[in-house]
Amino acid sequence: MSPAQASKRIAELRSEVAAHDERYYRRAAPEISDFEYDVLKAELADLEKRWPQFAAADSPTQRVGDDRVQGFREVEHRQKMLSLDNTYNEAELRGFHARLVRLLDTEDLRYTVEPKIDGLAVSLTYEQGRFVRAVTRGRGDRGDDITANVLTIHSLPKSLRGPAPRVVEIRGEIYLTVAEFDRINAERAAAGEELYANPRNVAAGTIKLLDPAEVARRKLDIVLYGLGYCEPEVASSQTDLHERLEAWGLPVVEKLWAVRGIDAAWAAIGELDERRRTFAYGTDGAVVKLDAFEQQRNAGATDKAPRWAIAYKYKPDTARTRLKAITIQVGKTGILSPVAELEPVFLSLSTISRATLHNEEEIRRKDIRIGDLVEIERAGEVIPAVLRSFSEERPPGAEPFDLVKAVGGSCPVCHGRIARVEVAAEGGEGVAWKCQNYDCAAQRVGRLVFFCSRRALAIDGVGDIVSAKLVELDLVRDPPDLYDVPLATLATLNLGTAEEPRIFGEKNATKIVAAREVARTLPLERWVYALSVPEVGETTARELGRRHRNFAALADSPLLHAVLKRAELEDEKDRESPNSKKNPPKDDAERERRKSRRTAIDAEIAQLTEGILAGVPSEVGPAVAGSVLDFFASEPGRRLLAKLAVLGIDPAGTVLAAGVFTGKTFVLTGTLPALKREEAEAKILAAGGKVSGSVSKKTSYVLAGAEAGSKLEKAQALGVAVIDEAEFVSLLGTEKK
Ligand code: IVH
Repeated sequence: MSPAQASKRIAELRSEVAAHDERYYRRAAPEISDFEYDVLKAELADLEKRWPQFAAADSPTQRVGDDRVQGFREVEHRQKMLSLDNTYNEAELRGFHARLVRLLDTEDLRYTVEPKIDGLAVSLTYEQGRFVRAVTRGRGDRGDDITANVLTIHSLPKSLRGPAPRVVEIRGEIYLTVAEFDRINAERAAAGEELYANPRNVAAGTIKLLDPAEVARRKLDIVLYGLGYCEPEVASSQTDLHERLEAWGLPVVEKLWAVRGIDAAWAAIGELDERRRTFAYGTDGAVVKLDAFEQQRNAGATDKAPRWAIAYKYKPDTARTRLKAITIQVGKTGILSPVAELEPVFLSLSTISRATLHNEEEIRRKDIRIGDLVEIERAGEVIPAVLRSFSEERPPGAEPFDLVKAVGGSCPVCHGRIARVEVAAEGGEGVAWKCQNYDCAAQRVGRLVFFCSRRALAIDGVGDIVSAKLVELDLVRDPPDLYDVPLATLATLNLGTAEEPRIFGEKNATKIVAAREVARTLPLERWVYALSVPEVGETTARELGRRHRNFAALADSPLLHAVLKRAELEDEKDRESPNSKKNPPKDDAERERRKSRRTAIDAEIAQLTEGILAGVPSEVGPAVAGSVLDFFASEPGRRLLAKLAVLGIDPAGTVLAAGVFTGKTFVLTGTLPALKREEAEAKILAAGGKVSGSVSKKTSYVLAGAEAGSKLEKAQALGVAVIDEAEFVSLLGTEKK
């Protein structure tokens, strides 16, 4: 690998891992299994180690995933909440031990081995024995205050039994029992709603609901295993702490092994693996911790994880079964994806008869053929996947799979034309086949489901089944047609068959009608996202929604035209460079002409960048700009806008005012006297400024309140302006004029 290749791969992996972090921690909707995620992250860590010149402090390997979302008050942890290093192999586990032996200069190390609960991390504060606060891990140093939601957890005592310290932070995991998960899913199935993929995502999604009454309906649980800040000290070891937690009446891990040496720890990991499937919570690994707190302190920690603990993760469960057939599904963007139809097999709590095969290339690479005995994996989180096939047991005459042949050369749903397209795939670019017909029924269904999904317009109740029915009956062509379906029609939808009817019902229909009315009032950013504009994900939609007044302004956006213009200029500058090797100037006269053109281009680029494009982030690049403008100029795009106009739906953008904060970056630290942190942040954003988590020379202001920490020191060291709330408000005042 050349340095250039390494640097490129590192950049790719960083952005991929960051995107998965966002999906896992913030949205509770991961797309890949933990195992696949760990593989990506391990590759990144390995490359960063081998190419230290490309290491970066803001790499996802160097920080903990951030779970903070809007709508919660933020609280600083008294003691940082760290993550854990993890491994899937015994050799690395032994490496962990060897390092500690060196570091602590003793062979005599005692460990505890306990379940690694697959939930979400939480820190509880008890003062004088009374529960006062629950906070998510957040960014490690500060997290979201979820006290109101945690109060709904019945198994959590609100006061500690017996003598308690003045202040203690107790760390643990919030989870959903498998039984409760099944109950919720059964309820959703009955209402024709999409099923949740796994308990962890539901727990993580639930704890971030803004309505505690809603949280109470889903019975969350909690288990405690760790200590943060504690005054005065109450325990001298992990085993000691475990006993103390239990004595206080708190729910603790189901079993804890206290062992001496790494061989015994390894044996305990094996025993835990035998037992873990009987636990109430999902257990995806074992956490090995140095038992003695004094040794823990001596071993220390990095910014991200302690050196005294490691998580050994069990490989996801797999099973073998026969691949009966490969069917082709068409998604909302028209991409054709192969699906494995399997001989049903029981795996990780449920029977599986379908699994993803990812794409045609993957099938070819793994040489998977119909009739093969295959190994499937269910990582607990996502759709089961086919890992490999056993070609030794292949039935005679099995041919390699040919996707185009399998679908007879056209879309299996609408029989329209298909074309080969480049798609973003794991680890780089891939190719796929795509149905070219925007009006394909499969695409319509996919877009309607997406339109109604939680993060889009949150019209609950319109999942796969209802959407497919509405499209089949031709009641919905484009998602906004949902508004034209009368309540009575919705109520009488038959989701079953003629022989076995399953009528959707008045109650469910009424919910949809109410939800679609609420959706009318949602801001432009949600609507842009909901309409499945190609290339527009959630972040991009947010940026667009904050920079345009409404759909009309977006459809012919001067800002997007400027993005394209700037990209064109940059292209021209590259192509016509006076020093171009590819396209060298013919003579001196041309070189001179190019030089003066370059000066003019630079000026034009600067004018755009500092003018109309000031503060526009890299997410809104030429690919997005071109795609958005093309889409709204296309027949389907114009049709959508016309429908919205007829429906009287004109969502408003939350346009950023330009002002003294445009181009200014703020860092907030400490507690402000009157403003909540998110209020201050909102004011900064509304005035065109940016908020960052760390102080650098580029920081314009550090807004500091009481108990400001290291950020204040850093600002002073770098000579960055530090302001208090009063000064901040007065700056805002000048902004308003
Ligand atoms: S101890 C200083 N013990 O796993 C870090 N963590 O992947 C101490 N987790 O952030 C963590 N079960 O949220 C510890 N028995 C256990 C755990 C556990 C689950 C979580 C925890 C941590 C994450 C790291």
